[in-house]
Amino acid sequence: MMTSTLKISALTKRFGDVAALSDVSLAIQPGERVALLGHNGAGKSTMMKIILGLIPATSGRVEVCGAMPGSATARAQVAYLPENAAFHPALTGLEQLRHYLSLRSEDPGQAQQLLDQVGLGAAARRRIGTYSKGMRQRVGLAQALIGAPRLLVLDEPTSGLDPVSRRDFYALLDQFAARGTAILLSSHALTEVEARTDRIVILSGGHLVAEGSLPALRRLADLPVALHVTARNGYAPALMDALPGAILVGGALHMACPQSEKLALLGRIAGLGDKVADLEVLPPSLEDIYSHFSRRDGQ
Ligand SMILES: Nc1ncnc2c1ncn2[C@@H]1O[C@H](COP(=O)(O)OP(=O)(O)O)[C@@H](O)[C@H]1O
Ligand SMILES: [Mg+2]
Repeated sequence: MMTSTLKISALTKRFGDVAALSDVSLAIQPGERVALLGHNGAGKSTMMKIILGLIPATSGRVEVCGAMPGSATARAQVAYLPENAAFHPALTGLEQLRHYLSLRSEDPGQAQQLLDQVGLGAAARRRIGTYSKGMRQRVGLAQALIGAPRLLVLDEPTSGLDPVSRRDFYALLDQFAARGTAILLSSHALTEVEARTDRIVILSGGHLVAEGSLPALRRLADLPVALHVTARNGYAPALMDALPGAILVGGALHMACPQSEKLALLGRIAGLGDKVADLEVLPPSLEDIYSHFSRRDGQ
């Protein structure tokens, strides 16, 4: 059996009367990319700070590569990109990285190689003040990669990135995951993580309310599927008769059905033959799925 890179059991954290985390359990394996999703205040940053050993848990157990959070062993294996990483705008990327390497008692000579790794090699000698938001996130990632960590903890690393920078950022994470680094990243939007993670964990009001791959969450949510059927010229009334419950929207018949009835309905539509010009099946959107789970616990 593989040893988990991160193992959290029955983790609870209270700040006075506020239960920031309640009985959360989670394990992450080497090379696994896990997205921690939740609205503001769901407990994402709190969980990350506990994993890092920056704040203590109220109860429960956390092991990072088999060690206590914050212990020397754990610190050597885990890297963190905080929610609002700020860099010195007057420093070049190279100077900033050299500085971080010195702080970690590592050879500052690795700075260029780390910047190359995150695709900032060519910009290494430019001042960070001239970098785009996506480039600054990469500086943060380069910093997090110092010492080849086995666990990357990234707090909302893609918020505010445009879709292209976001895709590049995930492609970069894939490379590290492929080498066995486990990745835990948080986000407040499901659309931001989409298919770029192996597993999604949804926190709501400090509770873990759902966990699984996107297809698994889709099945679990069991939200209705929408179907749009376009009638061949003149056949809309015939289709309306054949498909009770449908409504006409701009010449197309719109209907929704439970997942379990989807195939039967598709069969009936196929049976209408030539009367149908086109058919579109629209699964529930990511936002629908996300709201379904994050509402469940009420905030
Ligand atoms: N240092 C703190 N003192 C008191 N309450 C806190 C502290 N840090 C976080 N909280 C509370 O814990 C809950 C979870 O916060 P947080 O982990 O920052 O959520 P997220 O990162 O998902 O937005 C919120 O209700 C927040 O107000
Ligand atoms: Mg946060």
